[in-house]
Amino acid sequence: MYLTKEEEKILKGEEGYVKQKALEIVVKTGEVLEAERLIKITKAHIAGISYKNIGDEGLDLIRELYEAGGRFSIYTTLNPAGMDLDLWREMKVSEDFARKQIEIVNILTKMGAYPTLSCIPYELVPLSYGEQIAWAESNAVLYANSVIGARTNREGGPLVLFEAICGRAPYVGLRIDENRKPTVLIKFEVKNEFLKSMTGLLGYHLGKIVKEGVPYVINPWEVIKTTYDVRLFLAGVGASSSIGLVIFKGISPDARMIKEEELKSLEKIIIEDAEIKDTYEELSTDLRSYDLVAVGCPHVTGNELRLIYESLKGIQVKENFYIFTCREYCSRCRDIINKLREIGVKVYKDTCIVVADLRSLGVKNIVVDSAKAAYYLSTQGYKVKLLPLDSILRGLQDG
Ligand code: F3S
Repeated sequence: MYLTKEEEKILKGEEGYVKQKALEIVVKTGEVLEAERLIKITKAHIAGISYKNIGDEGLDLIRELYEAGGRFSIYTTLNPAGMDLDLWREMKVSEDFARKQIEIVNILTKMGAYPTLSCIPYELVPLSYGEQIAWAESNAVLYANSVIGARTNREGGPLVLFEAICGRAPYVGLRIDENRKPTVLIKFEVKNEFLKSMTGLLGYHLGKIVKEGVPYVINPWEVIKTTYDVRLFLAGVGASSSIGLVIFKGISPDARMIKEEELKSLEKIIIEDAEIKDTYEELSTDLRSYDLVAVGCPHVTGNELRLIYESLKGIQVKENFYIFTCREYCSRCRDIINKLREIGVKVYKDTCIVVADLRSLGVKNIVVDSAKAAYYLSTQGYKVKLLPLDSILRGLQDG
């Protein structure tokens, strides 16, 4: 692999032991992926920081890196942790779990990360077209590539740690323009309004049938109306496939570089009601009762917080209704969050329904508006019903 003089110096240990080891790992990964060279990255987003997922082994690795002098050399943000760092007692998280989770976040922060603790870094940090970054959260990768036109592969959790330390990533995959060409055309012909309103399900279905490559959606406005829809859709794609870029005609910056002739030879898949209904039945259980309703996968922004409050104001919510957002929106929308809490809604930051430690809440049956959440919660043994956000809010209004 070609290495610059600067990279050779790092490999000789001139910038410290941990940076040297981190670069060695990135180079080895690049060799396996047949990268001809590395590329400098400007931002990293580290996922897999919930103690629920990484346990003592993950904590030990982070602690060792920090104690050996490991520091992030680029702008680094963090995905959600296993609890709200302030309200973990209200979430009934155990003392032992909380202590270890706080240690994970503290160490990563001391290494130089911003404790954003959110899976929507694209809403929190400025990102430009063509910018080379290394993000590890699939919905964030899909959003950065598909909506902003930044360049990142779906980086593995531990690899991003090392990339953030050495500031380099293998120059492969979606970092290279030629690999960002569409491989299949997708047209949505969904008539059923209920199915059409579940954009996360539509994205999940697309991922399920395409699996890899770069799908080009001919008519995104048929199914996507809001930025929340985009986030739910891309999170769904990420949950059911290894896709890292969806090109939306009229939305994605990459769509502008594509000539009509390039699309002519591609296979075209038309997605219709019957197959989406089948995917819905695979993903959603017909629950008669539930213990918890959860929204915020990916995290909601101020827009959704306001919309949810407007829809529920004037009633007292009797169900367990949790909304997951990030600390940034908690401070920007403090008054709305206080009002939501006054009407009985629980708003949590720093964590999410999938990576939070919910065992002590005794929850078994959950209603969500996110296909990604439905998929991952089902794999954790919960029974899950998937509904569009407006149906969830109507249900809460009716008590
Ligand atoms: Fe985000 Fe958790 Fe969903 S990290 S995309 S809210 S699974």
